[in-house]
Amino acid sequence: MKLNEGWVPVALSSSIEAGTSAGAVVEGSEIVVWRDNSGNAHVWEDRCPHRGMRMSFGFVRGDHIACLYHGWQYDTAGQCRYVPAHPTLEVPQTIKVPTYLSKEKYGIIWTTADEESALPDAGTTGEITPVRSLYVDRAIGDVITAFEEAGMTALSEQAGKVLLGDDLLFIGFQATSDAKAAVHIVILGSPAIHAGAKQKHYAQWAEGLRFALEQAAVPVAEVA
Ligand code: FES
Repeated sequence: MKLNEGWVPVALSSSIEAGTSAGAVVEGSEIVVWRDNSGNAHVWEDRCPHRGMRMSFGFVRGDHIACLYHGWQYDTAGQCRYVPAHPTLEVPQTIKVPTYLSKEKYGIIWTTADEESALPDAGTTGEITPVRSLYVDRAIGDVITAFEEAGMTALSEQAGKVLLGDDLLFIGFQATSDAKAAVHIVILGSPAIHAGAKQKHYAQWAEGLRFALEQAAVPVAEVA
């Protein structure tokens, strides 16, 4: 799914701490996912308007992110507010990083350019326990099929849930290119119960699925 077609999961919330940034790719579009020091997540095009440096290499300072190359600083709306080489300059409004909408749900950061689309609904609003993000060298359709064969029920084009024993997992799917995908996995349940051994168990379960997919020699159902 492309950014203008609906909400795409791009990172586990727990993987983007306050004051940090990370690069990601959605169907070939490079984005930066960053969290300001107030805890709000932002998703932008990963390109500084000055000379094109990746914003994901930049530094978060309070509610601004500064480009690594020449230090231009951008506010949470993507607007450039400060140019170190010209500290008294009133920066033109036209110097702005293109931004996407972002939301957090089920312990995952989602983004879209489509204001009308809705996030998937897993039917619960309780606590979650993050498991891991997994990067797979297979097309998104193959990845979703593998998880369905392991018992997952699709909730939308980019999400599903699966009951394994007593544990309910939520899974978000991100196409990074035509041939590669990322999978973001959480347990719909409290960390007080699931942190530790359960996280490790389901991380290994997901790695087994990835191994089967990439090797394409082991039937996926055997791994599940
Ligand atoms: S390339 Fe970003 S400030 Fe120059």
